[in-house]
Order: sequence, then structure tokens, then C-alpha cells
Amino acid sequence: MLWIKNGRVMDPKTQLDQVMDLLIDGEKIQMMGQNVAAPKDAKIIDATGKIVAPGLVDIHVHFREPGQTQKETIHTGALSAAAGGFTTVVMMANTRPVLSSAALVRQTVQWAKKEPLHIYTVASITENFDGETLTDFEELIQAGAVGFSDDGVPLKSSKTLRNALKKAQRFGKMLSIHEEDPELVGTLGFNGSQFIASHCKIDGAPNVSEYSMIARDMMLAYETKAKLHIQHLSAKESVDLVRFIKKMGAKVTAEVTPQHFSLTEAAVLEAGSYAKVNPPLRKSEDLSHLIEGLKDGTIDVIATDHAPHTTAEKAQALLKSPSGMVGLETSLQLGLTHLVDKKHLTLMELLEKMTWNPAQLYDFDAGYLCENGPADLVIFDSEKSSEIPDRFASKGENSPFVHQKVKGEILMTISSGAIIYEKK
Ligand code: DOR
Repeated sequence: MLWIKNGRVMDPKTQLDQVMDLLIDGEKIQMMGQNVAAPKDAKIIDATGKIVAPGLVDIHVHFREPGQTQKETIHTGALSAAAGGFTTVVMMANTRPVLSSAALVRQTVQWAKKEPLHIYTVASITENFDGETLTDFEELIQAGAVGFSDDGVPLKSSKTLRNALKKAQRFGKMLSIHEEDPELVGTLGFNGSQFIASHCKIDGAPNVSEYSMIARDMMLAYETKAKLHIQHLSAKESVDLVRFIKKMGAKVTAEVTPQHFSLTEAAVLEAGSYAKVNPPLRKSEDLSHLIEGLKDGTIDVIATDHAPHTTAEKAQALLKSPSGMVGLETSLQLGLTHLVDKKHLTLMELLEKMTWNPAQLYDFDAGYLCENGPADLVIFDSEKSSEIPDRFASKGENSPFVHQKVKGEILMTISSGAIIYEKK
């Protein structure tokens, strides 16, 4: 039994924001209220002056198992999630081999169940990301896949996506997609701008490679009435398009990553390959649009796209190094620093986009706090200044944020009533 005493309890689902006590018994929250009487055998956690919120939910992580466990394993991914305040995550299918078969999904789900937080996985939309042959959705759902994505490899064929949307719709599942037209991207991982061309001599991925594909795919979602989630928006035009399609009534949702709302393309000059990411970091005007999209609800979710790579891989020449950065252990802090502290979002709005909204997309029993609800929580200090360390619980250290001063510190993560992370 855990008795969390005197914290500022914030629940985005009900908008509750009150100093109170919370009693956890087993895997559930047993009681919430003021002056809850603490049972004698309860462990007391003093949360005075701290925020008590639902455990964070990240619907976009890469844990690299099977196949690339030198970068991350499901276990180290889980440690990283816990250290970042997350209690529910959804893994992507770009493992080696790709998660296209029921046997592999079943195996992955079994590995994930050994961890003390809720780790789900999507399966691939097409066989081995071939872009053409749809996987057996029914079998993959039975094996435990919660949705479908070819993340990392955009779907070139509109016909394939249309068929996939219809199929997903039949099974009540969502597709989440990576939008960068392979015929327009130039060199992946860098912005297709004058700035990058002149400083790095690289012809990168222009905004149009993202927004032209988003426009096409959202129209297919509109026509099929299927649920389509657009991953990591980066271009300003993409935000306007999502806003437009939502007005048309399509079941489209969108996410943004902390790196895309807090860094510009110029980060590549300082952080080199650690700032190389697909889609790329863009201009400050793109950032302002993304933030506007978060504010007006066009962008529903903040997701990390946690993408660990080894130090040796990232030390290669800029053009050779793989795209991606770790993000689980910096996400909340970047939201507090770049969104809440700058008054773009309230703390409640930030939490909504990191808990209740993402949980709803997958119908997870997560992302909220109430009596009898799941005892998945994060306790954090929203005011404390801290510095991003150069080592993480993740195997990856590929973060362009290392040594940056940020707001906020995760103090404790509780999943299914058990303490899975505690700040030493
Ligand atoms: O930069 C990226 N890295 N973007 C993706 O979509 C995939 C990810 C990875 O798996 O490394």
C-alpha cells in the first residue's frame, strides 16, 4: 500500500487540480481526497509541493528488440520510460525482422509483459515494409498488436494505404503513419532549406515532402472514414492541413515530438548527427505553427519517437549516421520548458497531450486518475531547474539536449501500484 500525501493532483480527464492525498492498494487507486486516513502499513510518500499526475503515455517509441539490441532492448527501453515518468508506451514495428508476423508479435508481447509497465506494440502495415502487401491484420491483432504502422518507411502507394485504411476500419484499429514522400525528400534527416544547403552542403527534405503526402493520405482517411494518426508533424503547412481535415470531419489525429517544437534546423550546426532526425528539424516559423497547433487542439498528442542509436553509429560522418534521437527521459522537461514556462500551454494542457489524449487513441485504460482506476502515476517537480545529463537509463545517449538547462524533475513513477522509478 502506498499513501501519497499532500500532492497537487492533476487529472486531465476530469480537469481535477487539487491538493489531496491518494491511497494505492494493489494495482488500483483506492481513495483520493483530503485528509485520507493512512493505513498503518502504508508506505508514506510526501508529495508536498509536487505534481501527482497520471503516468505518461507515449504512443511512439523504438525499443529495437528483436534485432538491434546493441541500441536498446525492451528492458532498457522500459527503464528509460520509467525514468521519464512513462507508464504506457507503444513500440514501433521497425525491428529486425520487421514485426509483420503473428509469431514475432506474440514473442514481442511476451517479452514486454516481463516489464513492470504497460508496453504495447503495433505491427507493420505491409509485409516487411514492402509498401505493397498488406499484413494479416486479424492474425496480428489476435497476437497482440494494438494498431499498425510502417513508421520509418512512408507508404508510397495511395492504393495500398487506402486498402489498409479500409481493413483497419473493419477491425476498429488505427493506422499511424510517417509522412515523407521518398521521391521528394533529398537527403533524409536534414531540412531542405537554403540554410542547410549553404551551411552543410546538403540538399535535405523540404516541407513539401511531408505536407504533400499528408494531404493525400488525409483525403483517403476522409473517404474511408478510417482512423488515421499522423506521426511527428514538422512542417507548418502540415498543421494547417490537419486543422482543415478535422473541420471536414475526418477521423485524423496528429502528434508532435518535443524535438520538433523545441529545436530548429540550426541545431545540426551544434549537435551534428545528434540533431539528425526524420522528419527533420525545421525553421522557427514551423515551430510556431506546431505550437499553435498544440494550443488550438489541432495536434492531439506529444510523442517522443524515442530512437536510440549507438554512439559509434552516430559518430560516423553526418551523411552516414542514422536519423533519430532518444526522448523518453527529456520529454516532460522539454514540454515544461518550451510550452508551459513560455505560457503556450497550461500544465493541464501539457499533461492532457501526454496522458489522456494518447491513451484514448488506443482505448488504453490509462492516462487518468480516479478511485478504482489504474495506479499508474508520475510524481514530479514542475519548477525545479535541472540539466539534461549525458547518460540515460536508455542505452542510447544520442540526444541533442545534453547539458541543456530545463525545467522539471521526475521524482517517482508508479505503475500498477509498484514504484518503478525513484529519483535518488
Ligand atoms: O529519425 C527517425 N528515426 N525517424 C523515424 O521515423 C524512425 C527512427 C528510427 O527508427 O531510428
